[in-house]
Formats: sequence, structure tokens, C-alpha cells
Amino acid sequence: MLTAADNEILTRVGRGTPGGELLRRYWMPACLSSEVPEADGPPARVRLLGEDLVAFRDTDGRVGLVEERCPHRGASLFYGRNEECGLRCVYHGWKFDTSGQCVDQRNERRSFADRIRIDAYPTHESGGIVWTYLGPPETMTPFRDFGTESLPPAECVANKEFADCNWVQSFDGDVDTGHISALHQFDAIEQLDDDGTDRPGYPSSYFSMKIWRNDPKPLIEVNDEWYGYRYAGLRTTPNGHRHARITAYIFPLATMIASIPFSSRVIFHAPVDDHSVWRYGFNTKPSTLDVDLGGKPFWTAPGYPFENNPPTGIVPRHYTRDNDYGIDRVAQKGISYTGISHFRSHDYMATETPGKIWDRTREHLGGGDLAVARFHQLIISAAKALKEGAGPPALAGTGDFRTIRAAEKILDQDEDWRALGTDADPLVQEAYRRQREAALSGADD
Ligand code: FES
Ligand SMILES: [Fe+2]
Repeated sequence: MLTAADNEILTRVGRGTPGGELLRRYWMPACLSSEVPEADGPPARVRLLGEDLVAFRDTDGRVGLVEERCPHRGASLFYGRNEECGLRCVYHGWKFDTSGQCVDQRNERRSFADRIRIDAYPTHESGGIVWTYLGPPETMTPFRDFGTESLPPAECVANKEFADCNWVQSFDGDVDTGHISALHQFDAIEQLDDDGTDRPGYPSSYFSMKIWRNDPKPLIEVNDEWYGYRYAGLRTTPNGHRHARITAYIFPLATMIASIPFSSRVIFHAPVDDHSVWRYGFNTKPSTLDVDLGGKPFWTAPGYPFENNPPTGIVPRHYTRDNDYGIDRVAQKGISYTGISHFRSHDYMATETPGKIWDRTREHLGGGDLAVARFHQLIISAAKALKEGAGPPALAGTGDFRTIRAAEKILDQDEDWRALGTDADPLVQEAYRRQREAALSGADD
């Protein structure tokens, strides 16, 4: 439970609010690169932290991000002509470059373009995403590289999905391993026999789904890190072993969610405004670093009944409050826990139905919500500290963001989950050794 004042700090993203000022200190996604694919092509609407903006790729390939309203008489630049290194308002023809400078006034006999600027934000493309920084220019810090800076274009796989609720509600679901024992379960899993992987080591991805189902009361342990925290949900497997799902929280808006054997795909929330959010997903490592344990993904489990999201592009929303997320009450009795056929729509239902901004004065968190509570605490305390003049945490230079990974494993006797997925994990070392060898043999060719 939070006080009403702390819930405001946690959830509000507007300019001048404590939370909004905190979030503005970090680079965040403005849009997918694929939304502005070509030079002088159509601009894209961007709404971020309550600000209405327009992204456009100019003749030289640079992406501009400028305020949407033309400073002449307010027409939307989304309808503008993207031509010759600038975006031109079609009402009277004023034109702006990527820096926001007015470079032409088509309707004025005596131009005063040199005195006209619109708000423009810096952009940086990485990993298939156009990133931006909306904070004060004097406090801008370098882009945080999760690994995308050296990723070949073919390996940049990014998508985004819209959630019709405050970003914190959507985010809470990403640091909440407990819900996969209920919300995402399906009944056919009961027929899934032990495939030999319910023993210390790495379970097959689809058998792990049975492990999640087997123990709906995971013990949550949170370990603070320089970038935020990693936490484990510790469950007992059907054969009585200890299983760990380890998710990383990277302050303030990102997670890497547990996966076998380790993973580094980033989920990054970009609040649209107080009431909605884009949830971006992107790869940070080349596929040569994937470790193939021979297991099949959980969505190939026999009887798996759900549709999944495409990995690239803007994910369509077919199921919303308006159609009750497609709930099928017959399916709820005999196929899946929710009766909802689209996997991520389970989450949309759960995180959108508390209302646009959940009133956390009415919340009752328990031991299963430790990671959620820690996330709230970190945001609220950093927002308050920033107001008192302290610097924000986990900015570029604090550490190497490329070394952060999530993980999942059935633990050996006395094995500490904290080492899994770190540079000290033998499986991680092996993957990087193979990558180095591949790079060397490529250089020899
Ligand atoms: S309103 Fe944009 S040029 Fe007049
Ligand atoms: Fe979920």
C-alpha cells in the first residue's frame, strides 16, 4: 500500500512532476526505426511523457524529433512535407530542420526565420529503435548501451505494443514472476510428462511451464545491483528440486525477463502519458550468442493454446476492454486459466482493468510482491532525491550495461542463483568464447 502522494510521484510523468523529471534524465524509445524507414518519407506521430511530437527522417538520413504544433499558427507538422532536409508545415509553408530551427518562411516577404525555433530533442538510433532524451540539455548523459551499439542491422529485432494504462501497472507485471503460475497457465500442461529435464541443470523451456504451474507460491528474493536489482522466484519442481527464475530490473524503465539458460532481450517501457504506455522489446545480442540446449520453446508444448506476438513491428491489439479481451468462458473451464486466447492479452486484461491509474492506497502487497514493491520504492525514493538535488541512479558510466542478463535454471544443491547469467556463469563464458572464436575465424577468411 502506498500513500496517495507517493502513488502520484510513482505514476505521473508530466514535465515538472517529480517522477516526470526523473524519467526525463534517461534516454528512452521515441519510435521504431521502421516507423520512419526512408529519407524524406512520411513522418510518424510520437507521444512521449505527455508531449506531442513528430519524428521524421531527413534527406541525409538523420531522424528529427520536434514538437507537433507549428509555431506560426499551430497546425500539426505530422501532415507536413518532408523535403530537402526539413519538415515543412503545409498551412503556409514554414520549414524546420532536425535541430528545430526554422529555415524558411514561404509566406513572408521579410523572413524572420532565424528568430523562430521549435522544441527539438536529440535522437540516437540503436537496435532498431529511435531513442531520445527529453531532459534538460545540461544534464544529458551518454546513451546507455545494452549491447545494441555493436549489433549488425540484421540482428536488430524490435517490436512495441500499446497498453491502455499507466506505465507502472504494465511494468509491475514484468517484475512479477508469481502471475505465470496462474494468469498464463493452460490445462494441457497437466498431461506433460517429465521429459528428463526435471533435475539440477536446465529444464526444457516447455517443461519449465509445468514447473511454474507446480508451485504457485514462489519464494521471492531481491538482490540490489548497481543498475537496479535482480530478483529470483524460487519454486519447487514436480521432482522436488529448487528452480530459479531470475529477472533483471534496470532503473527506471527496463527489464530483462527470465529465460533459459540466460537472456538479454530488453523490455523497455516508454510512457505515452499518465494513462498509457508503449512497451518496447528488443534484442541486445547477436544470435551467435544464443546457447542451444536442444530444448523447445514453451509455446511448442503439446496443447499450447495461445497466440503470441510477432517479434518485430507494432503489435496489433485485437483484444481490449471493449471486447472483454476475447474471453471465452468455455475455454476458461477446460483450456486455459483465463479463457483468453492471446498470451499478452492475459497481461493487458490484468494490468488495464485496475483503471488508467491504479489507486495504490487500496493495494495489499504480500511476500509474492517483493520485487514489485522494491521497484516502486526505488522510483519514489529517486524522484524525491532528485528534487532534493541528488543525481539519478544507473546513468551511463555507472557500469557495463552489456553484462546484465536474466536467467533460469534448476539449481544444484546449495547453488546460489545470484551467479546465474552473470559474467561468472560458466555457460555465459562458454557462449562468449564461442563468439570470439567465430569472430576470429571470420577474420581469417
Ligand atoms: S501554421 Fe504552419 S506555416 Fe502557418
Ligand atoms: Fe505476463
